[in-house]
Amino acid sequence: MAKLKVGILISGRGSNMTALIGAAKAADYPAEIAVVVSNVSDAAGLDIAKAAGVAAVAIPHKGFPDRESFDKAVSAELERRGVQLVVLAGFLRIFSPWFPQRWRDRLINIHPSLLPSFKGLHVQQQAIDAGARISGCTVHFVTADLDAGPIIAQAAVPVLPDDTADILAARILRQEHRLYPMVVRWFAEARIGVKDGRVSVSGVPPAATLLFSAEP
Ligand code: GRF
Repeated sequence: MAKLKVGILISGRGSNMTALIGAAKAADYPAEIAVVVSNVSDAAGLDIAKAAGVAAVAIPHKGFPDRESFDKAVSAELERRGVQLVVLAGFLRIFSPWFPQRWRDRLINIHPSLLPSFKGLHVQQQAIDAGARISGCTVHFVTADLDAGPIIAQAAVPVLPDDTADILAARILRQEHRLYPMVVRWFAEARIGVKDGRVSVSGVPPAATLLFSAEP
């Protein structure tokens, strides 16, 4: 069967992108990375993608008069590559409402907290400051509302008393690298459905959409 063509949008180091490229190397993985696009020309992830033989393109947002014209240029690049699913992986640019509408139900993000807790930036510090005992990451569909689209899957980790934001971020990131390739696989296998803002994943055990890791 033809593999699902995935486009990944990044702005930085691209460790989630690297995890996805790694997963897609397996012959039986049902998705392939068609292109990586960055709004930051010198994003480290672009070089990593190229070194892995993946098409990587910089589209600096500074060259555009407004958000929507940048979004349309990114979208045109994705279309040119035949992309069927857009995966945000540390993409630090807020879209105009046009983009999530254009890619409705085919645009996903990973966020380093257990949504709906701790939206926005510095979310690991937010979790520590709140005294949360558990945090984690969430893969969700992207809508026009920031960090608020339907939740697909989550991974939970402990928040330990001596954690700094960096220590907690690293613990969460290890789970991001497990969770994201799993969700992209389900999407490629057409298992993911959205109804009334809630996601169901068919053909996997109900608990498969929630990972736990107790490792410090
Ligand atoms: C991750 O923490 C992800 O959850 C957030 O941005 C970060 C991206 O890291 N959306 P990387 O570029 O994938 O290493």
